[in-house]
Amino acid sequence: MPTLLHIDSSPLYGRSVSRQLTAAFVSQWKASHPNGTVANRDLSAITIPPINAAWIGAVYTPEEGRTPQHKELLSLSDSFLADLERADEYVIGVPMHNFGVPSSLKLWIDQIARVGKTFSYADGTPKGLLIGKKATFIIATGAIYDAQTQMASFNFVEPYLRSLFGFLGVTDATFLTAGGTVALNHGHDRDTFLAPHLHAVQTHAQILQGGHV
Ligand SMILES: Cc1cc2nc3c(=O)[nH]c(=O)nc-3n(C[C@H](O)[C@H](O)[C@H](O)COP(=O)(O)O)c2cc1C
Repeated sequence: MPTLLHIDSSPLYGRSVSRQLTAAFVSQWKASHPNGTVANRDLSAITIPPINAAWIGAVYTPEEGRTPQHKELLSLSDSFLADLERADEYVIGVPMHNFGVPSSLKLWIDQIARVGKTFSYADGTPKGLLIGKKATFIIATGAIYDAQTQMASFNFVEPYLRSLFGFLGVTDATFLTAGGTVALNHGHDRDTFLAPHLHAVQTHAQILQGGHV
């Protein structure tokens, strides 16, 4: 049974552009996979602790030598890894905060980048272990960071996510960005603003499922 992992990280809920766009992706996905399962992780609704020395010690302790305390320290990370392994596809909503990813998403990333689980240096070169997954990142940014614009070099969201997930093995990744959402704070009509982005998300979701547009 196909499984989609749906992750949101905007703290703004009803006002969030990235959440509205990931919801549109999920609706399209459900329509194409009536027997599919959608797993949801709302990173703004949970508390993810920052990694610390004890957590790092647990990660680098060989599995057979882990104490109950080590296992407890890694339990949240293990449950996030299980989400990633179970799902065939990921859709991840990402608001740009301070030119980068929001802190909730970074805390989650620190929990899922695990040696021997999602990447390995076993044969001397880095190898991603999340194989055969498709990811769609839906990014919302206040300003516009398109290539060739003056602001392009300030965008640390897409290059970071592309590198990080590529390192973990997720090379089949699509990035859809709704740029210029600040217009919504200046009276721009929300439906008019969102229409082309909703269209892009739905079209991409259809293409992913092998449909015609
Ligand atoms: C704490 C915070 C930091 C932000 N930093 C930036 C930024 O560095 N660059 C930018 O273009 N927009 C920035 N924005 C605007 C958001 O990227 C924009 O509101 C976007 O729509 C957020 O996605 P969301 O609507 O899904 O929450 C920031 C917004 C917040 C709340």
